[in-house]
This record gives sequence, structure tokens and C-alpha cells, in this order.
Amino acid sequence: KYSVLVAGGGSTFTPGIVLMLLDNLDKFPIKELKFYDNDAARQETIGKACAVLIKERAPEVVFSYTTDPREAFSGVDFVMAHIRVGKYPMRELDEKIPLKYGVVGQETCGPGGIAYGMRSIGGVLELVDYMEKYSPNAWMLNYSNPAAIVAEATRSMRPNSKILNICDMPVGIEVRMAEILGLESRKEMTVKYYGLNHFGWYSDIRDQAGNDLMPKLKEHVAKYGYVVHKDIDSQHVEPSWNDTFAKAKDVFALDTNTLPNTYLKYYLFPDYVVEHSDKEYTRANEVMDGREKHVFGECRKIAEKGSSAGASLHIDEHASYIVDLARAIAYNTKERMLLIVPNQGSVSNFDPTAMVEIPCLVGNTGPEPMQIGKIPQFQLGLMNQQVAVEKLVVEAWMEKSYTKLWQAITLSKTVPSASVAKAILDDLIAANKDYWPEL
Ligand code: G6P
Repeated sequence: KYSVLVAGGGSTFTPGIVLMLLDNLDKFPIKELKFYDNDAARQETIGKACAVLIKERAPEVVFSYTTDPREAFSGVDFVMAHIRVGKYPMRELDEKIPLKYGVVGQETCGPGGIAYGMRSIGGVLELVDYMEKYSPNAWMLNYSNPAAIVAEATRSMRPNSKILNICDMPVGIEVRMAEILGLESRKEMTVKYYGLNHFGWYSDIRDQAGNDLMPKLKEHVAKYGYVVHKDIDSQHVEPSWNDTFAKAKDVFALDTNTLPNTYLKYYLFPDYVVEHSDKEYTRANEVMDGREKHVFGECRKIAEKGSSAGASLHIDEHASYIVDLARAIAYNTKERMLLIVPNQGSVSNFDPTAMVEIPCLVGNTGPEPMQIGKIPQFQLGLMNQQVAVEKLVVEAWMEKSYTKLWQAITLSKTVPSASVAKAILDDLIAANKDYWPEL
């Protein structure tokens, strides 16, 4: 049985993940579950409620939460990391500052994602260092955002650390694909996929007998994008997400040989995205007024009553990919999963040092990336530009370089000119003074 630490104990996603872990104890047995956060108050609300959930469902699991790194990171086998440095008020600024200049305002894409990256790098490295100090044999399963920049930072500054970077968006899209195809589970599909995080394409999808599922999927995506007519994913059915799933249709039209990750809409149709954005009320506001209030409200009720009866906290079923990943390492299952790993020739005509999102077989020594081969010019051109953005952000953070960060924002496909990039950067610097290294 394993000892697991959730880093980001005060996250609104934590209760859903705990319920998911409890639901999967037969697949991935846990003897101890701990939370770590640097925000004691948020973590306490979530922690008190999770204590009740665990007592009700699996009283044998020893549970605790702490803000002390040594207590948290000692004696653990897996660290599941989902931190948000600066929390939602900073996400709000990441979104609103670019929008002020008519540029995409998004959590992980464009200047907002770059700003968030500059905040997250230090936070994630700190977690890696705590883990290596107090539990040198542990693995970190990291899904902290912005995953592309965080992954590049760990590749370049902690190359030998046992950290696996993974994102849930392909899982979310595949759940929809399975629904479109009338399959019971996304695991009936074998996918080929390549790209960067939040920036990739499916090139082949087959069923277990080897039949090509792309034609049927393409027919649907050409008409409806990834919109499915039954709500299958309780997390992502808000109007803003449905718009993203619908827009996949236009992204697909640009290259009908592949099926796109939905995030490409921000790079390929930034004008559309800005036109459809409310500069005063962004996704961060939706989440603060919606998910944040709901989850914290429910958690307070559960803690007060000492019971979860009647509470509406949902299992984050699609987060079960985290259990699959932990299992793959613990039991050497060699499960095929999409991870963010160093390219090292997998995409043969692309930078070997780039962090790419590709299928890997995962076992007890970590991921074995699959060979992708050559990719087409359109994707290659986009990826070269975007990977330069990600690498420049990490270099800017390490060297405290204003110029490199300006270059990074200028190179983002979401930004029209170097002067707009500079104006946005200067505002972001002021807003992030408590979080970024001084440039
Ligand atoms: C997806 C992405 C994550 C992102 C999240 C934002 O799950 O894969 O990288 O953080 O969406 O969702 P939200 O509901 O917070 O806008």
C-alpha cells in the first residue's frame, strides 16, 4: 500500500480527486494520504471535509494535512502536484491584462499563460526539491499549470528528477471522442498524438481490433466540433467550454488529416476569441463565482455536520488518469498514456530538446516515449514558434531577463506586435511583483 501526498491541498479540485482515489483503492491501494499547501486557511476547509469523506468511505486510510514541508514530504511514495501560484485573483489578471490590449486573455495560452509560467516555475521546483530531500525515492505526478512551461523548467533545471508531467485535456477530449463513437470507454481507443502541451494533434485513432476510427470522428467534428449531445463531463459543460468544443470544427477545417486539441483555437483564431471575450468578466470570474464558492461551501457544510450526506461534491472521474499513471509506475503496467516528455528524436524533424506531448509506455522506470517520425510542415512551423516561446520564458526566469520575456511574448502567435507585447509585459511585471524574479 502506498503513501500519497497531494500538493495543493487547498485546491477546489482536491475533493474530487480524493473521491476519485477512494473510488479506485482496489486498483491503487493507499495506506496514508496527506495534503500540503502554503495556504493554511484554504487547506483547512478542504482538509476538514476530506477527513469526513475518508472516515466514511475508507477509515483505514490515515489522513492528515499540514503546511510544514518536512512533515508533508517525509515518507511518501507519490506526490500528486496541482498548485496554482497566485491563485484565482492572479489568474484574473493574467486574463484581463492582455484583453485590455485586444489580445487573448487565457490561463495557459498567450501572455497570460506566460505570466502564470513565470509564477509557477519557482513553486514547482520547490516541491521537487522538498520531495528529493525528504522522500528521495518518490515520484511526482505533476499536473500543475501551465504544464508546457513547467515541464520545460523541470527538464532544464531538474533533469534527473523523478517528475512526470501530464495534462488532462487530451483525456477530456478522448472521453468526448469515445462518446461520439458510442464506445463504453476512451480506453477502447489507441491514439497517436503529437505536439506540445495544449498544442497538439491526433493523427490516428483505432479500436482494439485495429479498425480506423478517424473517418467517423472526422465526420462528427466537421459538423459539430467535439460537442456531444449528452453531457458526459460534469466539469466542463459551462457555456465557455462548450464554445471551445464547438470551435474545434474550424480548427479541424484548417487541416483535415488530423484532429486538433481544442486549445489551438487560441493560436489560430485569436481574433475570434477576443471578440467573444468579456473583458470585465473572464473565466477566472466564472470559476471564482462558481466552482470556488460551490466547493468551499459544500466542504464547510460537510465539516460542520460531520457527514457528507446530501452534499453535492462530485468524483472527478476523468482524473482517474492520475491513478493509471501511479499504477503504471507502482505495478509496471506499461500502460500507454500521453505524457509531456523530452522529444529526443521521437518527432524526428523537431527540436530534440523540446518537451513534447506524445504517447509513452509507462512502467516502473518511468516513460518510454513512442516514435512519431516526421510531422507535416504546418504543425512543425507552429510548434517551432511555440516551443521557442516556452523556452524563452524559462530562460527569462533563470536569467531574470526582461528582453527574453519580451521576445517570448512577441513570438506568441496570439500577439500582433512587439510594441503590444511590451505594453502587456510592463503591466504584467507590475501585477506580478510579488511572484516573479525581478527582471
Ligand atoms: C482543462 C485543462 C487544464 C486547465 C483547465 C481549466 O482541464 O487541461 O489545463 O487548467 O481545463 O479549467 P477551468 O474550469 O478552471 O477553466
